[in-house]
Amino acid sequence: MPSSVLYHGADYNPEQWLDRPDILRRDIEMMRLAHVNVVSLGIFSWSMLEPEEGEFHFEWMEAIIDRLWAAGIRVDLATPSGARPAWMAYRYEEVRRVNADRTRQLYGMRHNHCYTSPVYREKVKIINQQLARRFGHHPAVMMWHLSNEYGGECHCPLCQRAFQEWLQRKYGTLDHLNRAWNTRFWSHTYTDFSQIESPAPHGEGAMHGLALDWRRFVSHQTIDFMKWERDCIREILPGAKVTVNMMYRFNFINYYDMAKEIDLASWDNYPTWHKPEETVESTALDTAMMHDLIYSLKRRPFWLMESTPSATNWQPVSKMKKPGVQLMSSLQAIAHGSDSVLYFQWRQSPGASEKFHGAVVAHDGRADNRVFVETCAVGRALEDLAAVAGTQKPRQAAIVMDWENKWALEEAQGPRNCGLGYWDEIMLHYAALARAGISIDFVNEDSDLSGYRLIVAPMLYMLREDFAAKLRAFVKGGGTLVFTYWGGVVNETDLCWLGDAPHGLVDVLGVRRAEIDGMFDVETRRCVAVTPDMPAVAHGSVLCEVAALEGAVPLMLYDEDYFAGAPSVTVNRYGEGRAYYLATRFEEDFYGPFYGQVCAGLLSSVWPGELPAGVLATRRDRYLFLQNTASSPVRVGGDTIDKYGTAVYLEEESGLRRIF
Ligand code: GLA
Ligand code: ZN
Repeated sequence: MPSSVLYHGADYNPEQWLDRPDILRRDIEMMRLAHVNVVSLGIFSWSMLEPEEGEFHFEWMEAIIDRLWAAGIRVDLATPSGARPAWMAYRYEEVRRVNADRTRQLYGMRHNHCYTSPVYREKVKIINQQLARRFGHHPAVMMWHLSNEYGGECHCPLCQRAFQEWLQRKYGTLDHLNRAWNTRFWSHTYTDFSQIESPAPHGEGAMHGLALDWRRFVSHQTIDFMKWERDCIREILPGAKVTVNMMYRFNFINYYDMAKEIDLASWDNYPTWHKPEETVESTALDTAMMHDLIYSLKRRPFWLMESTPSATNWQPVSKMKKPGVQLMSSLQAIAHGSDSVLYFQWRQSPGASEKFHGAVVAHDGRADNRVFVETCAVGRALEDLAAVAGTQKPRQAAIVMDWENKWALEEAQGPRNCGLGYWDEIMLHYAALARAGISIDFVNEDSDLSGYRLIVAPMLYMLREDFAAKLRAFVKGGGTLVFTYWGGVVNETDLCWLGDAPHGLVDVLGVRRAEIDGMFDVETRRCVAVTPDMPAVAHGSVLCEVAALEGAVPLMLYDEDYFAGAPSVTVNRYGEGRAYYLATRFEEDFYGPFYGQVCAGLLSSVWPGELPAGVLATRRDRYLFLQNTASSPVRVGGDTIDKYGTAVYLEEESGLRRIF
C-alpha cells in the first residue's frame, strides 16, 4: 500500500443492481466526483457468487472490478462468510447457530454461523480460495476484508466439544480446573470434562470461573475461525493483506488478540450525533476514545471501515448529521490515526432492512444532494491531507482497558449488581485527558508499558500477578499510576485474592482496602479536599471504598456517612514515581482538575497554547489537529476555526504552519 494516500470510499453492493447497467455506470462517474479511491466489495455476495452448491459465477464481479480499476479505484475484497446462501443453511444444518437455550436458529438474518462447524469452514474455504485464485492477482485488489463484523456465540454440540477440549488444553487436569473455579462450592466438582457445558438459562449461570472461560473460549474460537479464513486466502496468495472490521465497545471478542492476527485494524463507527442529552463535544469524545482504542491495538494507523455520511436506520431516532459534521467526524478519524474514511454504503438499497440507511448516493441518485456534496468535500480534504497517511501518534498516557477484566467484573455478583459501568468509568478518565490535549493509548494486562509517563488503571478488578508486578516496576522506575476502587480483587480465574488488597499494590499505593459500600443510583457521598490542588468538594458514587492509609498522603476525604474522614483520593511516592488512588467514582467535573494536578510537570498538551472549551487537539508526528466541536466559530492561537471546523498544522523549524 502506498503510504501517502488517505483512502476514501464505501461498502459497494453492486449485486443489487446487476440488471441496471445505467446505475452501475453512473456509480463510477459519481465515485470519481466524490474522490473515491477504494471500495469494499462482495461482503454480502455469496448467493450471487455461488447460487447453487459448487456452481460459481464470477463474471459479474470481474466486470465490476475491471471497471473500478479503469477508474483508478482499488478494491478491498471481502470473503462472503458474513451471510450464507439459503441452500447451504438447509442442506447442512450444523452451519446454523444454536442459542444459549439450545434451540437451533432457522435460516435468516446474517452473522449467525457456527464458528466450529467443519462444514461451514469447508464451504468458506472453497469460496475464499476461488475468489483468491480468480481475483487475488488483479491489480485493483489491495486488501482482503475478512467476513463482516465477526461476533456472537454458538452453543451447538460441536461448540460444546470444542469448549471442553479448550478447557482440557488450558487446565490439563480436572483437578486443576476444579481448584481454579472453586467447584466445591454448591457441590460442583466435575469428574469428567464432558460434564462441562456453556452457560445456559436453564443450566449453569453462577460458576464465575466457567462463565469467564466461556467468554475467553468464544473470543478464541471466533479468532480461530478468522485465522482459518485468512489462511485459506494465504494458501493461494501468501502475501495477502487482511483486515477485519471491528465494532464500537464490542464485548465478545478480545480485540487485542484479534489484532495480532491481521495486517490492519479497522472499525465501523456509528455515533448518534446531536442527541438531545449530549453535547457534540461529548459525542466526539466518545468516538475519539474508540478511534484511540483501535489505533492502540497495533499501535499504528488503522482504517475507518464504515461510517454513515448522514444517518443510520437502526438507532432509536435516525438523526441526520448537521451541515459540516460529516467533514468534522471524518477528519476526526484521521486526527486520531485513521488512514481512511469509508462509508456504509455507497448507494442506498432499494429494499430490505437497510433501505433507509444513509448512503453516499441516496434513492434520488442526485449529485446535488447535500450529503453527496459534503462527501465530495471529505474526498477533497483527504487528498489535501494525504501526507498525513502512515504517521504515528506520540506515546504519552495509557489507560488499561482489558476485555478479560470486563468479563470477570460484569459476571461477579458483588457490591453492585445493577451495573458497574466499566466503560463509563474509563470515559471519565479519557475525557479529562483528551480535553487537556494528552495523547491517549489503551493497553491490556499483556501490554508492554514502556514509553508511557502515565498509566491509568480504572476498576482493574481482575489483576494478574504479572501485571501487578509490571505496574509496580512502572512506578518504581518513575512512572505515574492512577489506580481506582474495585481493583486488585481477583486473579485470572476469578478467585479472590486473600490478604491485603488491592492485591500486590498496597505498598505501591500506600493504602489498603478495608470495606466497600455499594451506592444506589440516587446516592452520592460528599468528599472534601485537604489540599488546595483538588476540587474543594466532589461526590462519590457507584462504589465507595473505605481504605486505611498505609503511608499515602490523603488529598480528599469522605465527609459523610459512617466513613466520614476516610481517604477518597490519595497519592503515594514509591521508588522514583507516584501512585494515585481513587476510592470512588466522582462526577465528571472532578477529573479535569484532578488530571491537571496529575499531569503538572509530567505531560503537556500536544497543542502548545490554550485550548478553548469544545476544541480538541491531537497529534500525528509533525501534524497537529484542532477540531472545534462547538456550534460557533472560535479563535485559537491567532486563527479562527469555523463551527464544526478542523484546522491542521504542520510543525516546522520556524513554528506551526496551518496547512488546512
Ligand atoms: C454494520 C454492518 C453493515 C451495515 C451497517 C449499518 O456496520 O457492517 O453491513 O449493516 O452496520 O449501520
Ligand atoms: Zn456451534
